[in-house]
Amino acid sequence: MTTPVRPAAVIVLAAGAGTRMKSSVPKILHTLGGTSMIGHALNTARAVEPEHLVAVVRHQRDRVAAHIAQHDDAAKLADQDEIPGTGRAVECGLEALAGHTLTGTVVVTYGDVPLLTPALLTDLIFEHEGKGNAVTVLSAEVSDPAGYGRILRQGDEVIGIVEHKDADESQRAIREINSGIYAFDAEVLARALAQVSVENAQGEKYLTDVLSIARGEGGRVSAVVTEDRWQVEGANDRVQLQALGAELNRRTVEAAMRAGTTVIDPATTWIEPTVALEQDTTVLPGTQLHGATHIAEGAVIGPDTTLTDVTVGPGAQVTRTHGSGAVIEAGGKVGPFTYLRPGTVLGEDGKIGAFYETKNVQVGARSKLSHLGYAGDAEIGEDSNIGCGNITANYDGENKHRTVIGSHVRTSSSTVFVAPVELGDGAYTGAGAIVRKDVQPGALAISVAQQRNLEGWVGRRRPGSSSARAAEQAGQQDGHTGNTEGAGE
Ligand code: UD1
Ligand code: CA
Repeated sequence: MTTPVRPAAVIVLAAGAGTRMKSSVPKILHTLGGTSMIGHALNTARAVEPEHLVAVVRHQRDRVAAHIAQHDDAAKLADQDEIPGTGRAVECGLEALAGHTLTGTVVVTYGDVPLLTPALLTDLIFEHEGKGNAVTVLSAEVSDPAGYGRILRQGDEVIGIVEHKDADESQRAIREINSGIYAFDAEVLARALAQVSVENAQGEKYLTDVLSIARGEGGRVSAVVTEDRWQVEGANDRVQLQALGAELNRRTVEAAMRAGTTVIDPATTWIEPTVALEQDTTVLPGTQLHGATHIAEGAVIGPDTTLTDVTVGPGAQVTRTHGSGAVIEAGGKVGPFTYLRPGTVLGEDGKIGAFYETKNVQVGARSKLSHLGYAGDAEIGEDSNIGCGNITANYDGENKHRTVIGSHVRTSSSTVFVAPVELGDGAYTGAGAIVRKDVQPGALAISVAQQRNLEGWVGRRRPGSSSARAAEQAGQQDGHTGNTEGAGE
């Protein structure tokens, strides 16, 4: 098992309609684990490093083709014509490679079988090449084989496949089914397909007929029987898609645990296969990790946190947070109830606390935005403390502007930064300051007018109210009436 297997081609069948999905979206574009079904199929096909990767399309052709091109720009497209059947689909796939000499192994897989792994596909190719087979089919034993093609055997040898609709009673009793995934010798495949007719119960050109034709030519045909049903399971409706998605997640979460992540509650933890988790990370219940999210060693995520394309540094803590496109550096603390939008970068040991929304903001090391605020289009230096309820007013109704805050800055509660504005290093702001002008290093910015107390205002303007009564009582206790002459209003 040392020779690297490089099949001549993998042909992914993706021309079918998938009507049971009840959707305007083509079936194979529905997603599980953050990737479309066809995306999973292309990933597995690509992983065995074929010389050519071909997807056969027909139903909603342009939409499917655009999606495939976006997912794998080296994949070739083949259009299936009006002749129906898996055999015709493969024939169209081969026609798309007409300019190339195909020798060796051609693998066929389905666009709607998303859990097939490169490892199992590689096993199939090894078996095929090791035995010098003409055809090797991936099969499985199932309790309910209805609808599937059945594997016909003579001892160890496979002599053919009969479709459910064409099978007799005794054939229908066979529980070994055809997964639809095969390795073929390229020349045998092309030659046999030319002989396949559409004379069967469905009037389709069956790929399965290639097996008996190959045997008739003297070729060897055998099967790799997988114990792992999920890997050959297709999704035809949303119930099956959900089941496959849950199983994919179960496998992904289990793999993460085996690689050193503590997961408290796998049942409420959703991790996409594209996510990377380093050793000694912890994922608390109710957490979803999507896309290119990367969690470094020692970080604790959750509970109830959703991160998409977020990079979390070593030892960081992210609690009850919704984040995307953000970077949290080592030791950073985020949450609870925090909304990190794209472009947020929190420096080492920094903090973005409760009820904060951030967007396109770079926060320097050890700086803190602890409570209740909005920071957008801003840059904050190191060791600064942004007070409770601070807001960057970054939008003038037409354009966005930047707020630049230096290092060792202390801003008081409810400061509003009317961007564009800059605060130098070591600057302070007073409570409620509306900062419209730049603040020099070390200056205190105050913008609020002197406080005036209008004595007795409540008694005069809200007579008989509970506030007026309370004020009166307080006045009696203090020896005041609480209703003396006041300044004008
Ligand atoms: C096929 C097999 C059957 C096997 C089953 C496994 C044949 C004749 N039968 O059944 O033995 O047990 O798969 O699921 O091959 N497709 C095309 N073009 C077509 C028809 C199908 O691209 O003209 C694609 C579909 O998009 C799908 C795959 O081929 O990805 C299988 O098609 P489907 O109709 O589900 O399979 P069957 O032919 O019923
Ligand atoms: Ca079918």
